[in-house]
Amino acid sequence: SDQSEFDTDVWTLTRFIIETGRQARGATGELTQLINAILTAIKAISSAVRKAGLNHLQGLAGSVNVTGDDVKKLDVLSNDLVINMLQASYGTCCMVSEENKDLIITPKDKRGKYVVCFDPLDGSSNIDCLASIGTIFAIYKRVSEGEPTEKDALQPGSNIVCAGYTLYGSATLVALSTGAGLHFFMLDPAIGEFILTEKNVKIKPKGKIYSLNEGYAKYFHPSINEYLKHKKYPEDGGAPYGARYVGSMVSDVHRTIAYGGIFLYPANEKSPKGKLRLLYECNPIAFLIEQAGGVASTGTQRVLDIQPESLHQRVPFVVGSPDDVNEFLTFVKKHQ
Ligand code: AHG
Ligand code: MN
Ligand code: MN
Ligand code: MN
Repeated sequence: SDQSEFDTDVWTLTRFIIETGRQARGATGELTQLINAILTAIKAISSAVRKAGLNHLQGLAGSVNVTGDDVKKLDVLSNDLVINMLQASYGTCCMVSEENKDLIITPKDKRGKYVVCFDPLDGSSNIDCLASIGTIFAIYKRVSEGEPTEKDALQPGSNIVCAGYTLYGSATLVALSTGAGLHFFMLDPAIGEFILTEKNVKIKPKGKIYSLNEGYAKYFHPSINEYLKHKKYPEDGGAPYGARYVGSMVSDVHRTIAYGGIFLYPANEKSPKGKLRLLYECNPIAFLIEQAGGVASTGTQRVLDIQPESLHQRVPFVVGSPDDVNEFLTFVKKHQ
C-alpha cells in the first residue's frame, strides 16, 4: 500500500509483547505491565535527553557511584525514572542499578515476581558532547521466597526472561528480545509508541569493523595488540578493517549488530577485569547479541554462563559477528 497512508493496524511494542506473552504458558500479563513501565521511563528519558541542554540537565551531579564513575545529572534523573516506574508496575521484587550500591528492594505492598538489572544511562561521558547514549535492562524471574535477596539478582545471564537496550540517537530505538529473536522498534513521538521496524534481526557472520578504545594499547594483554595488528596489516592479503568507537557501548553494539564486526572492552593492566559491568551491561547485551546469531565472550568463557558473585562485578567483554569473535579467540588461545 502507499507508504504515506496512516497505518491503521500498527504493530506497537506493547501489542507485540501482548501477542508474545499470550503464547507463553500461564501468561498473567505481569511481564507486559513490567515492560510497559520500562517503556514509560524510556520515553521520559528520551524526552529529557533531547532537552538536556535546555533545562540545565547536562554536567555533573557532584557525586561518584559505587563503580567510581562521576555521576551526571541525567544519570540520576534516568535512574529515578526507571526505579519509580518499575516499582509502580507491581512487577518487581528487587532491582540492581549501576547508580545504586545495594540491591533496591521493592516495598512489600508493591512486589511482583520479576527482578530487573539496569543501566539507566549508558555512555554518560558522551552527554555533554551530544554523542548517542542509551539505556540497558535485563529481566529475570525471582528465585527466592519471602524477602528478596541478592541471590535473586546474581543469576547467570542464561536465565534472562527479557532484555533490551534503548539508543537515544538520531531516532529513539528499542532493541528487545524475550528469547525468540531480536526485534527493533522506533519511537514515533507523534503517538508516543514504539513501532516494530525489524523482526528477527540477524548479525552478519563476519564484518569489516573493529571497535575498542585503543588508548589503552599500552596496558592491553599482548593477544589484543596482536589481534589488532592482524586487523590493520592482514598477512592473508585481506583488506584491513575499519575502526569505529563512540564510547557509548549501546551505540557501538548497535552499529556492530547493524553492520557486522566486533566490539571489545578487554581487560587491561589498569582494569584487570575490564570496565563493563556484568549484571546490567554485559549480560543483557550478550543475550541480545546471541539472539541475533552473534557471539558474546569474556575471551575465556561465554558471558551468559558466568555465575555472578557481586552486583557490580566487571568482566572483559568481546561481542559481535561469530567469525570475528571466534578469530579473536584464536589469538587469546595462542597466549594461554
Ligand atoms: P556508563 O556511562 O553507563 O558508565 O557506561 C560507559 C561505558 C560504556 O558505555 C562504554 O563502552 C565505556 O564505558 C567507554 O569506556 P572508555 O571511556 O574507557 O572507553
Ligand atoms: Mn557510569
Ligand atoms: Mn554503561
Ligand atoms: Mn550508566
